[in-house]
Amino acid sequence: MVPESLSPSTYVVADPGAELTEAFASLWLEVTRAGGAVGFPADAPAADVRALAARTLDQVRAGQLHMLAVGEENDLAAVVFLRRGAGPVVSHRAEMIRLMVRPDLQGRGLGGSLIDAAIRRAGELGCDQLLASARGGTDLPGFYVARGWVEVGRFPAALRITPDDVRDEHWLQYRIR
Ligand SMILES: CC(C)(COP(=O)(O)OP(=O)(O)OC[C@H]1O[C@@H](n2cnc3c(N)ncnc32)[C@H](O)[C@@H]1OP(=O)(O)O)[C@@H](O)C(=O)NCCC(=O)NCCS
Repeated sequence: MVPESLSPSTYVVADPGAELTEAFASLWLEVTRAGGAVGFPADAPAADVRALAARTLDQVRAGQLHMLAVGEENDLAAVVFLRRGAGPVVSHRAEMIRLMVRPDLQGRGLGGSLIDAAIRRAGELGCDQLLASARGGTDLPGFYVARGWVEVGRFPAALRITPDDVRDEHWLQYRIR
């Protein structure tokens, strides 16, 4: 569980096991059902969310994604991933993706701490800058801007949540150095 102080200890997950894989799928599903902006509409089939969660952790095992987590292996509180640019021209940057905090723990500083940890981790990996994208029509772009990120672009109608709910995608950059 998360310590009472909510001064979370964030750790790197390099080789997620079966328990953590299950906990991650449950976290993603819970966040999705609560309307979180992490790749699915709120009513997405559970099997789809679980399948993408499993594939995501395969990429962690393969070293294609870097995972940071808060919470127990069987009861995750929050996660975020870094995807470093592949190839010499973009390897100085990473994309920060799938930031999610368990709904009952949101609004208590965990997400902000995890972003700070992701920035530190990206710096350790040798990255100079981060890119994040956020769903339009939410306050999420403002959430990043309030933390020192700069909105550098907007991809109109990039996200088709449902056929009737199409949103822009906001691109946000954080310069580490
Ligand atoms: C977005 C999210 C990661 C933020 O984490 P958190 O732990 O709830 O946020 P924190 O407690 O660190 O920060 C709270 C601040 O963020 C704002 N905030 C939190 N969730 C927000 C949201 N969905 N939209 C806009 N602002 C939000 C709060 O208003 C609060 O502002 P304040 O610091 O000025 O008071 C979390 O709410 C979450 O997991 N949401 C569902 C998944 C999701 O949408 N992920 C975004 C991917 S881009």
